[in-house]
Amino acid sequence: MQYELNEDQQQIKMSVREFAESEIAPHVHEWDEAQHFPVELVPKLAELGLMGVIFPEEYGGAGMGYIEYATIIEEIARVDPSIGLSVAAHNSLCTNHIFMFGNEAQKKKYVMPLAQGQKLGAWGLTEAGAGSDASGTRTTAVRRNGGWTVNGSKNFITHAITGDTCVAVASTDRSKGNKGITAFVFEKGMEGFSPAKKENKLGMRASETASVMFEDCYIDDAQRLGNEGEGFLQAMQILDGGRISIAALSVGIAQGAYEAAIRYAKQREQFGKPIAEFQAIQIKFADMATEIDAARLLTLRAAQMKDAGKRVTKESAMAKLFASEVAVRVAEHSIQIHGGYGYTKDYPAEKYWRDAKLCTIGEGTSEIQRIVIAKQVLKESF
Ligand code: CAA
Repeated sequence: MQYELNEDQQQIKMSVREFAESEIAPHVHEWDEAQHFPVELVPKLAELGLMGVIFPEEYGGAGMGYIEYATIIEEIARVDPSIGLSVAAHNSLCTNHIFMFGNEAQKKKYVMPLAQGQKLGAWGLTEAGAGSDASGTRTTAVRRNGGWTVNGSKNFITHAITGDTCVAVASTDRSKGNKGITAFVFEKGMEGFSPAKKENKLGMRASETASVMFEDCYIDDAQRLGNEGEGFLQAMQILDGGRISIAALSVGIAQGAYEAAIRYAKQREQFGKPIAEFQAIQIKFADMATEIDAARLLTLRAAQMKDAGKRVTKESAMAKLFASEVAVRVAEHSIQIHGGYGYTKDYPAEKYWRDAKLCTIGEGTSEIQRIVIAKQVLKESF
C-alpha cells in the first residue's frame, strides 16, 4: 500500500493548495454568510482540470486516478468544504454515473462538457420518503410513445438549480422493488423538469442544495442509462466511489480545523505563556493528529484499491464513516481550543464544525455505513 504521495501527486496537491488559498480563501466567510454558490469559480476549477479529475483525456477529463482525486478534494476542503462538496458531487456522482453506465453516444454528449466544466452536474437519488432506504423511490417513469413520462421529485440535490445535467433514478416497475429502478439523464430546461426549494443549511452553505421536480416530464428513451431495472445497483456502485470523496472531504475539513487550532494555540497566551505549552492542549493535538493520519490512510487505501479496479464497497464505507466522525471530533476540539473566540464567526473553527457534520450524513449516514460494512464483513469467509 502507498503511504505517501509520489512526486507528481505532491505537485498536484501543492498547486491545488495554492489555488484554494488564493482564489477561494478570501471569500469563504462571505459565501458562507450569503449562502452563495460561486458558480463563477467553475471556469477556474475547470482550467486546473478539477471538473473532470477522474475521466480520461479523450472524454475531456484530466485522466487522473482516485488518489489524485482524494488529494484534490482534501486540499479544497481544507480551505472551503462547500467547494470540495461541489467538485465531488459533480465528478464522482453525476459525471461518473454517465461515464460508467452510459453508452458511447451518451458519454460523448454529456461526459465531455461536464469534464471540461462547460456544464455542471447534479445527481438525484434521495427523495422526501427515500433517504437511507434508497430503493424506496416514489418517482415514477412510465413508458409512453417510445419514451418515458417522469413524475415525482428528488431532495437534497447539489446543483439542483445551477446544474445543467442531472442523473436521477425513477421506479419503472414498482413490483420489482430495487430491481425495478432505472436511471435517466435530464437536461436543464426540459419541459416538466425544474428546480424547487433551496435548503437553508447549518453548514456547507456555499454549496447549493435544493429539490428538483418532475411534472409529466417526457424524455426520450435515449436518456436512459443502462438497462431498465439497473438504476439501484448503478447508484450503489456510484456511491462506492462517491464515499471516497466524502472521506477525503472530511480529512480536508479535519486538517483545516487542526491547523487553525495550532495557529491559535501558539499565539494565544494565558497564565503568561502560549496555551500550546499546556499539556491539556497538547493531548488534544496528539489525538487530532493521530486520527487525521488514520482517516487519511483509510481514504488512500480505498482510493488505491479503486484505482486498481477492485470493489471498494467496504473500504469506502469504512473511510467515509471514520473520516467523517474524525472531522466532527477534530472540529469540536478546534472550537474548544479557541475558547470563546471559537464560538464566534471571527475565527474559522465554528464553520469547520458546521461543515463537518454534513459528512456524517451525506452519501449515507454513519449508521448506513455501518450496515454496509457489516454486510461485507459477514460475507467474508475465514
Ligand atoms: N456494489 C455492488 N452491488 C451492490 C452494492 C454495491 N456497492 N450495494 C448493494 N449491492 C447489491 C446487493 O448485493 C444486492 O444484490 P442481490 O439483490 O443480488 O442480493 C442488491 O444490490 C440490493 O442490496 P441491499 O440488499 O444491500 O439493498 P438494501 O435495500 O438493503 O439497501 C443500503 C442497502 C446500503 C441501505 C442502501 O439503500 C444505501 O446505501 N442507502 C443510503 C443511500 C445514500 O447514501 N443516499 C445518499 C445519496 S446523496 C444524494 O442523493 C444527494 C447529492 O446530491 C449528493
